[in-house]
Amino acid sequence: MSKEKLTDTRMSPSKVTGSGSGSEPSKSSSPVDAHENMVVQSMTFPTDSYDDSSDTMTQYLEEEPAPLGTDDAGSLFANFSTIGNQRLKEIRTKIISPEKRKKARTWSLREASKLIGRSDALIRRDFSDQLNKKPNGNYFLTLNDINMLRDYYDTRYVRPEGSEPMILGVLNFKGGVAKTTSSVHLAQKAAIDGLRVLLVDVDPQASSSFSLGPFIPDLELDQDDVLTNAMMNNPEYIRKIVRTSYFPGIDIIPANLFLQDLELALPNNDINNVRTMGPVILRLKRALDLVKHHYDLIIVDNGPNMGSITLNALTCCNGLVIPVPPSAYDHASFVMLCTSLSGAFYEEKKKLEYLRILITKHSGNKSAIENEAQLRELYGDYVMGSVMAASAEVERSSSSMSSVYDRQPGSKSKSTYTRAIEHMDAVNNEIIDDLKALWSQQAEAAMGHQKEMSDEQVEQA
Ligand SMILES: Nc1ncnc2c1ncn2[C@@H]1O[C@H](COP(=O)(O)OP(=O)(O)O)[C@@H](O)[C@H]1O
Ligand SMILES: [Mg+2]
Repeated sequence: MSKEKLTDTRMSPSKVTGSGSGSEPSKSSSPVDAHENMVVQSMTFPTDSYDDSSDTMTQYLEEEPAPLGTDDAGSLFANFSTIGNQRLKEIRTKIISPEKRKKARTWSLREASKLIGRSDALIRRDFSDQLNKKPNGNYFLTLNDINMLRDYYDTRYVRPEGSEPMILGVLNFKGGVAKTTSSVHLAQKAAIDGLRVLLVDVDPQASSSFSLGPFIPDLELDQDDVLTNAMMNNPEYIRKIVRTSYFPGIDIIPANLFLQDLELALPNNDINNVRTMGPVILRLKRALDLVKHHYDLIIVDNGPNMGSITLNALTCCNGLVIPVPPSAYDHASFVMLCTSLSGAFYEEKKKLEYLRILITKHSGNKSAIENEAQLRELYGDYVMGSVMAASAEVERSSSSMSSVYDRQPGSKSKSTYTRAIEHMDAVNNEIIDDLKALWSQQAEAAMGHQKEMSDEQVEQA
């Protein structure tokens, strides 16, 4: 078996040039280019804190009597923006140093053999001369290696013919309920399982772009790198803005603050090109339709509002996961969300292939347990069996723009890490298993339909 045989044939979204009427996308790379340049583009965010003694607003506020307000809010926020961007640039300067680049974790041969579905003895027999070795002699595999071996042994999950890619909106109009945390972790677990994943970030705050993309959204991406052209000028532009993430198996359509301008432009009939582009509400759907068949799972991480972009996401999704922390306030927000969704979906008799309420940030205390019980009593089986426990490990990893799946096991605080992974896996496995069951049903239905059609043709003949 030569190394040449080990090519990943499934993760190959096409590279297509846009032919639209808007300005040419600037520096975005196609997934194909980006996959090739993965190592070059990868980077990391330093987890160490920064020296607070620099020239910051905090220092200024400490020296002067504490102001209660401001006479010039515009200038104040311009100042905040300048010093904040300065800090982001400092972070970037640190992270572009090659030794600090963010890299996806690797797997030991024993861990990898479980993911591949073949014994480590067999893999060692077939590939011992080709596997990477650490200085201590232990083998280690990247997720790309694992997928290649899955392809070689024919053990990689293949979404059955006749099934549809799942476009899964992760939605709640409240911020801080773990939409991004759920989206990023689900994307990573699905990719670890060998699914082809696209994460679409439609939140101008761009948290999932920050954590998955090898870039700083507001410093390194401009208007042409987000959904603006694809939704305003020509859906074909979507092919230009799909980028590879640092995590094998996940592509990303990033967000940045320009999405706020898009939010204002979409409903404005003077500039929204409704004659050439059609209904505003269908813009994301038309664009995603062009690329969705390259993926099994497309996760749309939404912002905390019901604007035109979120409405677009709702129109194109065939599944929804609604993260809800178990507290009375969060339940109240969820009820408001349901009222809005009822309004948005009622007229068009929207069908959702998949709908789950995911209890997030569960502290395990008495009040959380009571609120969880109430959610289960009221919304029954739509509430996922597994809950996402509040975890110091999740909080710690998100403070360095990463996830628990980035962490190499065996390092510090092993038991906290193991617990966090177990909880995350339980949540994500539940969703992924549901989706696989759904895809099987869809494939069977498609086959049944095909048979009916051919029987009909035979009868007519
Ligand atoms: N399971 C969890 N345990 C601890 N902290 C969490 C957990 N899930 C989310 N968080 C924290 O809550 C905050 C908000 O999460 P985020 O996913 O950004 O929410 P949203 O996208 O809904 O605004 C983040 O700081 C994140 O680290
Ligand atoms: Mg978010």
